[in-house]
Amino acid sequence: MHPLRPADSLTHETGLLKFVLGIESSCDETAAAVLAHDGSVLSSMVASQTTVHEKFGGVVPELAARAHISHINCVVMDALNQARLSLNDISAIAVTEGPGLAGALLVGVNYAKALSYGLSIPLIGVNHLEGHIASAWLGDPTFPLPCVVLVVSGGHTHLYRKDQTGECFLLGCTRDDAAGEAFDKGAQMLGLEFPGGPAIDQLARKGDAKAIPFPQFHQRKTSMEFSFSGLKTALLYTLRKLDDGMRAAKLADLAAGYQEAIVQVLVIKAFAALAHTGLSALAVVGGVSANSRLRALLVERGAREGVRLALPPPEYCTDNAAMIALVGWQKLMTDPQTERQVDIRPLLQHSAVHPSVSYKEITHS
Ligand code: KG4
Ligand code: ZN
Repeated sequence: MHPLRPADSLTHETGLLKFVLGIESSCDETAAAVLAHDGSVLSSMVASQTTVHEKFGGVVPELAARAHISHINCVVMDALNQARLSLNDISAIAVTEGPGLAGALLVGVNYAKALSYGLSIPLIGVNHLEGHIASAWLGDPTFPLPCVVLVVSGGHTHLYRKDQTGECFLLGCTRDDAAGEAFDKGAQMLGLEFPGGPAIDQLARKGDAKAIPFPQFHQRKTSMEFSFSGLKTALLYTLRKLDDGMRAAKLADLAAGYQEAIVQVLVIKAFAALAHTGLSALAVVGGVSANSRLRALLVERGAREGVRLALPPPEYCTDNAAMIALVGWQKLMTDPQTERQVDIRPLLQHSAVHPSVSYKEITHS
């Protein structure tokens, strides 16, 4: 049985809930996906806006919203075609309502509202972070609860304990920049293309991470808080000391050293959270979890310490609509009356209890 699906709702809803359409437009990916009644993914389509934003070195909100408008209908139709379904087969729609860029969210939410109204089917608003967390079960439907979840994306670096009930408790998060932001800003300083994370990941494979080591910022060694803004400053000062020729010659080493400082901290903190909670299941989700060095380190240490790992396939690490559909599907299975007023919530936070234990307690344990 799917661990996200409560046992007592199984027979109740399967007859009603045939296919769920998920829609995601919180940042710079327009995505749509279709889930079957057993939670399996029938299709997942993503229209990327990389070419729109790359010349600006970052996401331009107004351009993102316009690109969502151009793409959304095609992406939804592609998702339906790939699933060999038509709009009339859909029994509910799940859409990201936040957090994200207001104009971008508005496109997805309004499109979903119009569709749900026209088809007379329920519309469920989904928290983007809950979507990322759920992506662990897209890759591995049997992944157990309770577990520790590390969300590492462009806007978030958050560690949670996810209980048997599915409720999340915040263990720690970043005090400043998110890990993805550190990748993106670092790549910009190194003159790499947008988006920065995949560019550093690729270049670092040709470099030596030990050639130019960067400091790893831990706050306190045993705490579960992160900090990445100092690392950016360290890169800036390192670059200032190199002339253009040296920079070009050392670019891969710089990328490898900088990446290593980010991913080592992520691994140390994730395993500190496992030690603190006494759990042995770890899910790592969000765009940065696509990073090849991070994945290799997690797999290696996970195997050494007998930890069950959920690392979604890369297409479910970065923004996608399958994860949004999964949360919507789960909400409907748990509570068929879950529908409520859906609206954009650009500043929406995760509803996790914050924090589950005091940091003092953690640092002295
Ligand atoms: O989850 P996501 O697609 O969107 C947000 O919700 O933010 O994450 C995007 C972030 C960006 O900062 C991007 O550079 C980073 O994930 N990212 C990566 C990799 N692929 C995407 N960072 C490091 N290595 C990668 N392979
Ligand atoms: Zn995301």
